[in-house]
Amino acid sequence: MAVIAVDTPGGSYEVRIGAGLLADAASHCAPLLRKHNVAIITDGNVARCWRATVEASFAASGYATYWFELPPGESSKSWPQLGALLEWLLEREIERGDAILALGGGMVGDITGLAASLLKRGCRFIQLPTTLLAQVDSSVGGKTAVNMGVGKNLVGAFHQPALVLADLCALDTLPPRELRAGYAEVVKYGILGDADFFAWCEANAAALLAGDPQAREYAVAASVAAKARIVGKDERETSGARALLNLGHTFGHALEAQTGFSDRLLHGEGVALGMVLAARFSARRGLIAARDAERIAAHIAATGLPARLAELGLDCDGQTLVAHMLHDKKMDAGTLPFVLLRANGDAFLDRSVELADVAAFLDGELG
Ligand code: GLY
Repeated sequence: MAVIAVDTPGGSYEVRIGAGLLADAASHCAPLLRKHNVAIITDGNVARCWRATVEASFAASGYATYWFELPPGESSKSWPQLGALLEWLLEREIERGDAILALGGGMVGDITGLAASLLKRGCRFIQLPTTLLAQVDSSVGGKTAVNMGVGKNLVGAFHQPALVLADLCALDTLPPRELRAGYAEVVKYGILGDADFFAWCEANAAALLAGDPQAREYAVAASVAAKARIVGKDERETSGARALLNLGHTFGHALEAQTGFSDRLLHGEGVALGMVLAARFSARRGLIAARDAERIAAHIAATGLPARLAELGLDCDGQTLVAHMLHDKKMDAGTLPFVLLRANGDAFLDRSVELADVAAFLDGELG
């Protein structure tokens, strides 16, 4: 088992990474539990794969478990579901000192974390992430949210978990497309800040995606360690360090919006293509060598993720995509900061980007 410490002003905790942690969930969580009943939030798909395992672990240690099962899918990360979850937790008399558990992907972790931040002005929560994306990104760092009518993740709070248990066995039950989409968030850490890790990804992505246990453990641990370093410096995204984690997300978010936040483009797929676009746009601005941008594109394509905007077959122009960016929550007094690249492994926040230039660039990429 790998153990990564996360240390922020809002809380210090461990991310434990290994195979079989869900089967042993009770012994990992017990030091944080005060009562012999535990509230666990999950969704229907995850429950089918993992509820029995987790329930058996707690039962063997003398705990009763209460389950709140959300309908699977991003649409459950909503204000009405948050209200229903809070009512349910209050009925179960969860107190401030109690810890609630989030078993699932980013949707489950984000809404559970927000409920935990609100319940009686804040109770503890434990993340049991079951997707690659949740293990390397959303379960770590304390961002919690629900989606609103005008956009994703627009209402939320920073609320750090008390523990994260990333069971690598959970990756075995993921559909291959979802695993690949999560991989985009792994290689992101290389592209934004660690050229050696990017080279490791080039050499090992195929093994990781095929299920190689060592490759998975190394990739998840390296990603979490990178994220822990960044959120340790800038928990609330104020200094600019944490904003680098948004590499690919501004372009990706516009593509997700244009495709209706649907199965046509998963979030990780949007991030993958968004990173390629950020690299190519950086090359257009003379920041990074064109061959380095194409190396990133080639690796993304080799993993089966989208690497060319034209392949999405969007019926729109660059200005339409830029219009989606204007709803980005990073908009700041009329400017939108972009995460661009000076080199592969060296990202920075550029506040001088003209949106007209982005639209012209995207027109070229769409063609
Ligand atoms: N997913 C980006 C962040 O946690 O800051």
